[in-house]
Amino acid sequence: MSQSTLIVNGHIWSAHDDFIADILVNDGKIVAIGKDLHKQYSADETIDASGLYVLPGGIDAHTHMELPFMGTKAADDFETGTLAGLHGGTTSIIDFAIQTQGKSMQSALDDWHAKADGKAVGDYSFHLAVTDFNESTKKEVAKMVEQGVTSFKTFMAYKGALMVDDAMMLGLMTEVKTQGGIITVHAENGDIVDSLVKKFKQEGTLSPKYHCLAHPAIAEAEAANRVMDLAHMTDSSLYIVHTSCRDSLANVKRNFLRDQRVFLETCTQYLLLDDSVYEKPNFEGAKYVMSPPIRKKDDQVALWASMQAGHVHTVATDHCPFNFCGQKDMGKDDFSKIPNGAAGIEHRLELIFSEGVVNKKITMNRFVEVMCTNPATIFGLSNKGSITIGKDADIVLLDPNEKHTIHSKTHHHNVDSGIYDGWKVTGRVKTVLSNGKIVIRDNKADQVVKGQGKFQKRKQFNYSL
Ligand code: URP
Ligand code: ZN
Ligand code: ZN
Repeated sequence: MSQSTLIVNGHIWSAHDDFIADILVNDGKIVAIGKDLHKQYSADETIDASGLYVLPGGIDAHTHMELPFMGTKAADDFETGTLAGLHGGTTSIIDFAIQTQGKSMQSALDDWHAKADGKAVGDYSFHLAVTDFNESTKKEVAKMVEQGVTSFKTFMAYKGALMVDDAMMLGLMTEVKTQGGIITVHAENGDIVDSLVKKFKQEGTLSPKYHCLAHPAIAEAEAANRVMDLAHMTDSSLYIVHTSCRDSLANVKRNFLRDQRVFLETCTQYLLLDDSVYEKPNFEGAKYVMSPPIRKKDDQVALWASMQAGHVHTVATDHCPFNFCGQKDMGKDDFSKIPNGAAGIEHRLELIFSEGVVNKKITMNRFVEVMCTNPATIFGLSNKGSITIGKDADIVLLDPNEKHTIHSKTHHHNVDSGIYDGWKVTGRVKTVLSNGKIVIRDNKADQVVKGQGKFQKRKQFNYSL
């Protein structure tokens, strides 16, 4: 049965405009936008959005639900993780289906469908993370694209586990380009990291802060530079995930000058936190162990400025939560055994709105662009990313003035702690529509049904400079 909703008098924001108008939603789609629509149409439900900001549903292009990693697995599954996302106004995610070395890409994709299908409550898609590129897996690239998986992730770090060498990278880039896909990359020099980890272990310096010291900014900047050269050589489109530091930005910006198709992602944690977190007592620094690590305040300044200048294209979370008790503490006596990653999907929109827009580091239009529109455009989520007639009715109503405090006691992540505990934010996601259905009403989940999230086939990469 088709369900219609009128959202009236909201302050609608896009990547380029803002205006006060009404939105009519019918059968999961946006069907009209205009002044005083409520005088022309009736609907099953009318939402008064006076005083609220109305945005496209957020898209988090970098999550790891139920990721098997470092001897354990990420604590959120597709149901809990996407539900947390809906609470925070993120209506779609792109997760990583990770190929096991020696196995096919198809088996990774099948595994990730089995984790998500029938469970996710928000819409989802997959990047295919390639860990083993050879003559046999080369043939699978076209098959992935046919199945709507058009982005291919590579790791230049995690030596001995996920890392690919430059030869594999070049081969994959060439094939992905032929099939109309885009390469995404975790840019850190795995050999630098590996040698520093070994050094610190030999020296017996094993607390969480040595994770940070084993992942220096230069390891990221070198890898970003190298992968851009490889992409330039193969004329490939490239998306660098979780960019965290000024040195990396500097290398990338220099390379922009030769007209490469390169997109940069950063994550909430690199914009908000600094490396003093690793000095916390009682092993608390372990909560912030992730790769790349949290950087310096100066790196935050560079990331915000680059985002406002249009050089950082998306903000994701790299959502990959591990419990402090029972998971992070696997590395109590050795930082290299602390599972890498932290939760963030629920708080992305509110934190970036509060720190970025309210504190005037980025404009509201830029906010919509990096949180919603660019992830859809870059990754071919053609029904998502803006409030436009004909698109899926994924819509967020945000109160720009309401203040609240983020805490793991009240969050919806399935994890026992949080890296933003006690963070005070201005701006609150109040109501969320996913495919036209109200799923969050006044901050609370409303008739959310397990498995209601739909797999999103994505288009081939089709973006020219
Ligand atoms: O620490 C992180 N980032 N964990 C998840 C895996 C990755 O590198 O993205
Ligand atoms: Zn990564
Ligand atoms: Zn990741």
